[in-house]
Amino acid sequence: MNEKEYNLIAIESDCWLQIMEGALKSSHPFHQPVVANATTIGANMRMVVLRNASAAEKTISFYTDIRSGKWEELQNNQSISWLFYNPESRTQIRLSGKASLHQNDELANHAWKNVNSNSRKNYSSILTPSSKIIDPKKSLHQEAIIITGNSEEGRGNFGVVVTNILWMEWLWLNPGCHYRANFIYDKNRDFTSSWLVP
Ligand SMILES: Cc1cc2nc3c(=O)[nH]c(=O)nc-3n(C[C@H](O)[C@H](O)[C@H](O)COP(=O)(O)O)c2cc1C
Repeated sequence: MNEKEYNLIAIESDCWLQIMEGALKSSHPFHQPVVANATTIGANMRMVVLRNASAAEKTISFYTDIRSGKWEELQNNQSISWLFYNPESRTQIRLSGKASLHQNDELANHAWKNVNSNSRKNYSSILTPSSKIIDPKKSLHQEAIIITGNSEEGRGNFGVVVTNILWMEWLWLNPGCHYRANFIYDKNRDFTSSWLVP
């Protein structure tokens, strides 16, 4: 560990740089993290594509279908957690915060403009996500997908989940000596930090 890495302020900053890079580069190991939320029967986890990250705002976001289970679950309980792992650097970053859901607003409109026509089909199924079907081949190709060629079809089902981060934990599995630290954000996005026993 060099001088810079042995510095909680530099580590916090580097975590956000890595996460922002993950949002921009599809090849980055942080591009497809796990997102978890609480339900009445336990935690619900799934992989998503990291779409946006802001170190200044301390926010990270993903896109989803507003008819999906997670959207309703997050409406009921805004607590949300993210898990990132980079096997090359052997670094794990966990973050938690409060979700804000965007569907009919400027943020969602702006995001939708960046969704290409192929990806827009993901939001255009007639049957809602998680609907029970008898024959996946038939349903998925004939009933569930709207094949109108109108890429605006999915807009009504498209939503953006933005997480306002309140807590972040960094773990580095450095050979010989592991390092772990956490960062707790206040309402001004300033943070307190601590080294932790790994
Ligand atoms: C690599 C990968 C990326 C995914 N990205 C997304 C995504 O960005 N948004 C999303 O809603 N679902 C995404 N999914 C699907 C979810 O993992 C999940 O199966 C689906 O959204 C249903 O989750 P839910 O029932 O908890 O709402 C992705 C799955 C994989 C394997």
